Amino acid sequence: MTQKITKAVFPVAGLGTRFLPATKASPKEMLPIVDKPLIQYAVEEAVAAGIDTMIFVTGRNKRAIPDHFDKSYELEKELEAKNKLRVLDMVRNILPSHVSCIFIRQSEALGLGHAVLCAKPVVGDEPFAVLLADDLVEDGKRGCIAQMTQQFTKTPHSLLAVERVDPNETDKYGIVKTTSTDNDKIGEVQSIVEKPKPDVAPTNLGVIGRYILTPAIFAEIENTGRGAGNEIQLTDAIASLLAKEKVLAYEFEGKRYDCGAKLGFLMATVEQALLHEELKDDFLDYLKTLAKKYTK
Ligand code: UTP
Repeated sequence: MTQKITKAVFPVAGLGTRFLPATKASPKEMLPIVDKPLIQYAVEEAVAAGIDTMIFVTGRNKRAIPDHFDKSYELEKELEAKNKLRVLDMVRNILPSHVSCIFIRQSEALGLGHAVLCAKPVVGDEPFAVLLADDLVEDGKRGCIAQMTQQFTKTPHSLLAVERVDPNETDKYGIVKTTSTDNDKIGEVQSIVEKPKPDVAPTNLGVIGRYILTPAIFAEIENTGRGAGNEIQLTDAIASLLAKEKVLAYEFEGKRYDCGAKLGFLMATVEQALLHEELKDDFLDYLKTLAKKYTK
Protein backbone atom coordinates (compact mmCIF):
# COMPACT_ATOMS: atom_id res chain seq x y z
CA MET A 1 0.00 0.00 0.00
CA THR A 2 1.28 3.46 -0.87
CA GLN A 3 2.29 5.36 2.24
CA LYS A 4 2.01 8.82 0.76
CA ILE A 5 -1.21 10.55 1.69
CA THR A 6 -2.35 12.72 -1.22
CA LYS A 7 -6.09 12.99 -0.57
CA ALA A 8 -7.99 14.67 2.24
CA VAL A 9 -11.71 14.36 2.92
CA PHE A 10 -13.54 17.28 4.51
CA PRO A 11 -17.00 16.25 5.71
CA VAL A 12 -18.90 19.55 5.67
CA ALA A 13 -22.47 18.34 5.35
CA GLY A 14 -23.51 18.53 9.02
CA LEU A 15 -26.44 20.70 10.05
CA GLY A 16 -24.47 22.78 12.55
CA THR A 17 -27.41 23.00 14.93
CA ARG A 18 -25.27 24.39 17.77
CA PHE A 19 -24.70 27.52 15.71
CA LEU A 20 -28.26 28.21 14.61
CA PRO A 21 -29.44 30.69 13.46
CA ALA A 22 -25.99 31.57 12.02
CA THR A 23 -25.95 28.24 10.17
CA LYS A 24 -29.51 28.40 8.86
CA ALA A 25 -28.50 29.49 5.37
CA SER A 26 -24.72 29.27 5.42
CA PRO A 27 -22.35 26.50 6.44
CA LYS A 28 -20.74 26.30 9.87
CA GLU A 29 -17.39 25.72 8.14
CA MET A 30 -17.60 29.21 6.61
CA LEU A 31 -17.75 30.92 10.03
CA PRO A 32 -14.67 33.12 10.18
CA ILE A 33 -12.01 33.05 12.86
CA VAL A 34 -10.89 36.69 12.59
CA ASP A 35 -10.78 36.95 8.78
CA LYS A 36 -10.50 33.38 7.51
CA PRO A 37 -13.25 30.76 7.37
CA LEU A 38 -12.74 27.58 9.39
CA ILE A 39 -12.60 25.46 6.24
CA GLN A 40 -9.65 27.47 4.92
CA TYR A 41 -7.61 26.80 8.08
CA ALA A 42 -8.25 23.07 7.60
CA VAL A 43 -7.39 23.11 3.89
CA GLU A 44 -4.17 25.05 4.59
CA GLU A 45 -3.25 22.43 7.20
CA ALA A 46 -3.72 19.68 4.58
CA VAL A 47 -1.71 21.59 1.96
CA ALA A 48 1.11 22.00 4.50
CA ALA A 49 1.13 18.19 4.87
CA GLY A 50 1.75 17.77 1.11
CA ILE A 51 -1.84 16.78 0.30
CA ASP A 52 -2.96 17.96 -3.15
CA THR A 53 -6.49 16.59 -3.61
CA MET A 54 -9.19 18.08 -1.40
CA ILE A 55 -12.48 16.18 -1.35
CA PHE A 56 -15.38 18.07 0.20
CA VAL A 57 -18.50 16.15 1.21
CA THR A 58 -21.15 18.84 1.11
CA GLY A 59 -24.86 19.08 1.76
CA ARG A 60 -27.69 21.58 1.52
CA ASN A 61 -26.84 25.28 1.97
CA LYS A 62 -23.15 24.64 1.41
CA ARG A 63 -22.69 26.45 -1.90
CA ALA A 64 -20.51 29.05 -0.19
CA ILE A 65 -17.74 26.43 0.20
CA PRO A 66 -17.17 25.69 -3.52
CA ASP A 67 -17.56 29.42 -4.19
CA HIS A 68 -14.87 30.21 -1.63
CA PHE A 69 -12.31 27.97 -3.34
CA ASP A 70 -13.38 28.93 -6.87
CA LYS A 71 -12.04 31.82 -8.93
CA SER A 72 -14.12 34.98 -8.50
CA TYR A 73 -13.78 36.91 -11.77
CA GLU A 74 -16.04 39.81 -10.77
CA LEU A 75 -14.35 40.38 -7.42
CA GLU A 76 -10.88 40.18 -8.97
CA LYS A 77 -11.82 42.67 -11.70
CA GLU A 78 -13.21 45.12 -9.14
CA LEU A 79 -10.22 44.85 -6.83
CA GLU A 80 -7.91 45.34 -9.82
CA ALA A 81 -9.87 48.42 -10.94
CA LYS A 82 -9.64 49.87 -7.42
CA ASN A 83 -5.92 49.06 -7.28
CA LYS A 84 -6.40 46.99 -4.10
CA LEU A 85 -3.48 44.78 -5.00
CA ARG A 86 -2.73 43.26 -1.61
CA VAL A 87 -6.23 41.87 -1.15
CA LEU A 88 -6.35 40.92 -4.83
CA ASP A 89 -3.27 38.79 -4.30
CA MET A 90 -4.84 37.19 -1.23
CA VAL A 91 -8.09 36.40 -3.07
CA ARG A 92 -6.17 34.90 -6.01
CA ASN A 93 -4.05 32.70 -3.80
CA ILE A 94 -6.64 31.04 -1.58
CA LEU A 95 -5.26 27.75 -2.92
CA PRO A 96 -1.88 26.94 -4.48
CA SER A 97 -2.23 26.09 -8.18
CA HIS A 98 -1.19 22.44 -7.78
CA VAL A 99 -4.13 21.72 -5.48
CA SER A 100 -7.44 20.43 -6.86
CA CYS A 101 -10.85 20.38 -5.22
CA ILE A 102 -13.57 17.78 -5.68
CA PHE A 103 -17.10 18.21 -4.33
CA ILE A 104 -19.41 15.32 -3.49
CA ARG A 105 -22.91 15.69 -2.19
CA GLN A 106 -24.19 13.85 0.90
CA SER A 107 -27.88 14.00 0.12
CA GLU A 108 -28.96 13.50 3.74
CA ALA A 109 -26.99 14.23 6.92
CA LEU A 110 -26.92 10.58 8.05
CA GLY A 111 -23.78 11.00 10.14
CA LEU A 112 -20.03 11.45 9.92
CA GLY A 113 -19.42 7.80 8.98
CA HIS A 114 -21.88 8.09 6.11
CA ALA A 115 -20.25 11.37 4.97
CA VAL A 116 -16.83 9.67 4.81
CA LEU A 117 -18.35 6.77 2.84
CA CYS A 118 -19.64 9.27 0.26
CA ALA A 119 -15.97 9.98 -0.62
CA LYS A 120 -15.22 6.32 -1.46
CA PRO A 121 -15.55 6.63 -5.27
CA VAL A 122 -12.96 9.41 -5.30
CA VAL A 123 -10.59 8.08 -2.63
CA GLY A 124 -10.41 4.60 -4.16
CA ASP A 125 -7.95 2.09 -2.73
CA GLU A 126 -5.61 4.51 -0.96
CA PRO A 127 -5.06 5.64 2.60
CA PHE A 128 -6.44 9.14 3.10
CA ALA A 129 -6.81 11.93 5.64
CA VAL A 130 -10.06 13.19 7.18
CA LEU A 131 -10.22 16.69 8.64
CA LEU A 132 -13.20 18.12 10.50
CA ALA A 133 -12.91 21.84 9.97
CA ASP A 134 -14.77 22.70 13.16
CA ASP A 135 -11.76 21.43 15.10
CA LEU A 136 -9.18 24.13 14.57
CA VAL A 137 -5.68 22.97 15.46
CA GLU A 138 -3.32 25.81 16.05
CA ASP A 139 -0.40 25.80 13.67
CA GLY A 140 2.63 25.06 15.80
CA LYS A 141 5.90 24.11 14.20
CA ARG A 142 4.15 21.33 12.31
CA GLY A 143 0.42 21.13 11.61
CA CYS A 144 -1.51 18.21 13.07
CA ILE A 145 -2.09 16.43 9.75
CA ALA A 146 1.58 16.90 8.78
CA GLN A 147 2.58 15.22 12.06
CA MET A 148 0.19 12.38 11.28
CA THR A 149 1.24 11.82 7.66
CA GLN A 150 4.86 11.65 8.83
CA GLN A 151 3.90 9.13 11.49
CA PHE A 152 1.99 7.12 8.86
CA THR A 153 5.13 6.67 6.75
CA LYS A 154 6.72 4.97 9.78
CA THR A 155 3.65 3.01 10.93
CA PRO A 156 1.27 2.57 7.96
CA HIS A 157 -1.88 1.91 9.99
CA SER A 158 -5.01 3.98 10.51
CA LEU A 159 -4.18 6.78 12.90
CA LEU A 160 -6.51 8.80 15.13
CA ALA A 161 -5.46 12.13 16.63
CA VAL A 162 -6.28 12.11 20.34
CA GLU A 163 -5.95 14.42 23.30
CA ARG A 164 -6.61 14.20 27.03
CA VAL A 165 -10.06 15.75 27.48
CA ASP A 166 -11.85 16.90 30.63
CA PRO A 167 -12.96 13.61 32.28
CA ASN A 168 -16.39 15.18 32.82
CA GLU A 169 -16.80 15.74 29.09
CA THR A 170 -16.14 12.28 27.66
CA ASP A 171 -19.70 12.27 26.31
CA LYS A 172 -18.67 14.83 23.69
CA TYR A 173 -16.02 12.59 22.09
CA GLY A 174 -15.10 9.22 20.69
CA ILE A 175 -13.03 7.79 23.56
CA VAL A 176 -10.21 5.28 23.06
CA LYS A 177 -8.41 2.84 25.29
CA THR A 178 -4.87 2.19 24.13
CA THR A 179 -1.78 0.19 24.99
CA SER A 180 0.24 3.37 25.56
CA THR A 181 1.47 4.55 28.92
CA ASP A 182 1.06 8.17 30.02
CA ASN A 183 4.36 9.16 28.42
CA ASP A 184 3.79 7.55 25.02
CA LYS A 185 2.63 9.76 22.18
CA ILE A 186 1.43 6.77 20.20
CA GLY A 187 -0.39 3.62 21.21
CA GLU A 188 -2.42 0.81 19.71
CA VAL A 189 -6.16 1.29 20.06
CA GLN A 190 -7.74 -1.55 22.03
CA SER A 191 -11.26 -0.19 22.06
CA ILE A 192 -13.18 2.88 20.96
CA VAL A 193 -16.61 4.06 22.03
CA GLU A 194 -18.69 7.04 20.90
CA LYS A 195 -19.65 9.64 23.53
CA PRO A 196 -19.55 7.49 26.72
CA LYS A 197 -20.86 9.07 29.94
CA PRO A 198 -18.02 9.98 32.33
CA ASP A 199 -18.87 7.15 34.75
CA VAL A 200 -18.42 4.46 32.08
CA ALA A 201 -15.70 6.03 29.92
CA PRO A 202 -12.66 3.73 29.77
CA THR A 203 -10.21 6.69 29.65
CA ASN A 204 -10.24 10.41 28.93
CA LEU A 205 -8.37 10.02 25.61
CA GLY A 206 -10.70 11.79 23.18
CA VAL A 207 -10.53 11.51 19.39
CA ILE A 208 -10.41 14.91 17.69
CA GLY A 209 -11.26 15.76 14.10
CA ARG A 210 -8.10 14.50 12.41
CA TYR A 211 -7.74 10.97 11.05
CA ILE A 212 -5.62 8.97 8.64
CA LEU A 213 -7.63 5.97 7.49
CA THR A 214 -6.86 2.97 5.33
CA PRO A 215 -9.41 2.21 2.58
CA ALA A 216 -10.54 -0.85 4.59
CA ILE A 217 -12.68 1.60 6.59
CA PHE A 218 -15.19 1.85 3.72
CA ALA A 219 -16.33 -1.79 4.01
CA GLU A 220 -16.72 -1.29 7.76
CA ILE A 221 -18.87 1.83 7.30
CA GLU A 222 -21.01 -0.03 4.76
CA ASN A 223 -21.76 -2.61 7.45
CA THR A 224 -22.35 -0.08 10.23
CA GLY A 225 -25.91 0.66 11.28
CA ARG A 226 -27.13 3.79 13.00
CA GLY A 227 -25.55 4.42 16.38
CA ALA A 228 -25.37 7.36 18.81
CA GLY A 229 -27.74 10.18 17.84
CA ASN A 230 -29.33 7.80 15.30
CA GLU A 231 -26.42 8.58 12.93
CA ILE A 232 -23.98 6.32 11.08
CA GLN A 233 -20.94 6.94 13.23
CA LEU A 234 -17.32 6.81 12.03
CA THR A 235 -16.39 5.70 15.55
CA ASP A 236 -18.50 2.52 15.22
CA ALA A 237 -16.86 1.69 11.88
CA ILE A 238 -13.41 2.20 13.44
CA ALA A 239 -14.47 -0.12 16.29
CA SER A 240 -15.17 -2.90 13.79
CA LEU A 241 -12.00 -2.12 11.82
CA LEU A 242 -10.06 -2.89 15.03
CA ALA A 243 -10.99 -6.56 14.72
CA LYS A 244 -9.26 -6.71 11.31
CA GLU A 245 -6.44 -4.16 11.35
CA LYS A 246 -4.19 -2.36 13.76
CA VAL A 247 -5.38 1.19 14.52
CA LEU A 248 -3.14 3.66 16.32
CA ALA A 249 -3.92 6.67 18.48
CA TYR A 250 -1.56 9.62 18.30
CA GLU A 251 -1.27 12.42 20.85
CA PHE A 252 -0.49 15.32 18.53
CA GLU A 253 1.47 18.45 19.41
CA GLY A 254 -0.53 21.67 19.33
CA LYS A 255 -3.65 23.23 20.70
CA ARG A 256 -7.12 22.31 19.50
CA TYR A 257 -10.16 24.55 19.64
CA ASP A 258 -13.62 23.03 19.41
CA CYS A 259 -15.11 25.61 17.06
CA GLY A 260 -18.28 23.55 16.64
CA ALA A 261 -19.23 24.85 20.11
CA LYS A 262 -19.71 28.53 20.92
CA LEU A 263 -17.15 28.70 23.74
CA GLY A 264 -14.41 27.00 21.72
CA PHE A 265 -15.20 29.23 18.76
CA LEU A 266 -14.85 32.36 20.90
CA MET A 267 -11.58 31.12 22.44
CA ALA A 268 -10.12 30.46 18.98
CA THR A 269 -11.24 33.90 17.80
CA VAL A 270 -9.61 35.68 20.75
CA GLU A 271 -6.34 33.77 20.49
CA GLN A 272 -6.07 34.11 16.71
CA ALA A 273 -6.77 37.84 17.04
CA LEU A 274 -3.92 38.07 19.57
CA LEU A 275 -1.63 36.48 16.96
CA HIS A 276 -2.86 38.66 14.09
CA GLU A 277 -0.18 41.10 12.90
CA GLU A 278 -2.54 44.02 12.25
CA LEU A 279 -4.77 43.55 15.29
CA LYS A 280 -2.79 42.11 18.13
CA ASP A 281 -1.64 45.30 19.93
CA ASP A 282 -4.95 47.16 19.78
CA PHE A 283 -6.88 44.03 20.64
CA LEU A 284 -4.71 43.26 23.66
CA ASP A 285 -5.22 46.82 24.96
CA TYR A 286 -8.93 46.39 24.49
CA LEU A 287 -8.97 43.05 26.35
CA LYS A 288 -7.05 44.58 29.27
CA THR A 289 -9.61 47.38 29.57
CA LEU A 290 -12.41 44.88 29.32
CA ALA A 291 -10.86 42.61 31.98
CA LYS A 292 -10.65 45.61 34.36
CA LYS A 293 -14.29 46.43 33.75
CA TYR A 294 -15.50 42.90 34.43
CA THR A 295 -13.23 42.00 37.38
CA LYS A 296 -14.24 44.88 39.63
P1 UTP B 1 -20.96 17.41 14.23
O1 UTP B 1 -21.12 16.29 15.17
O2 UTP B 1 -20.23 18.63 14.70
O3 UTP B 1 -22.41 17.80 13.69
O4 UTP B 1 -20.27 16.84 12.94
P2 UTP B 1 -22.88 19.11 12.95
O5 UTP B 1 -24.18 18.81 12.30
O6 UTP B 1 -21.82 19.66 12.05
O7 UTP B 1 -23.08 20.18 14.13
P3 UTP B 1 -24.10 20.22 15.38
O8 UTP B 1 -23.63 19.16 16.32
O9 UTP B 1 -25.49 19.98 14.85
O10 UTP B 1 -23.93 21.59 15.91
C1 UTP B 1 -18.88 16.62 12.86
C2 UTP B 1 -18.42 16.82 11.43
O11 UTP B 1 -19.04 15.88 10.58
C3 UTP B 1 -19.70 16.53 9.52
C4 UTP B 1 -19.96 17.94 10.02
O12 UTP B 1 -20.09 18.83 8.93
C5 UTP B 1 -18.75 18.19 10.89
O13 UTP B 1 -17.63 18.61 10.13
N1 UTP B 1 -20.94 15.78 9.22
C6 UTP B 1 -21.74 15.36 10.23
C7 UTP B 1 -21.26 15.51 7.90
O14 UTP B 1 -20.54 15.91 6.95
N2 UTP B 1 -22.40 14.80 7.63
C8 UTP B 1 -23.21 14.35 8.62
O15 UTP B 1 -24.22 13.70 8.31
C9 UTP B 1 -22.88 14.66 9.95
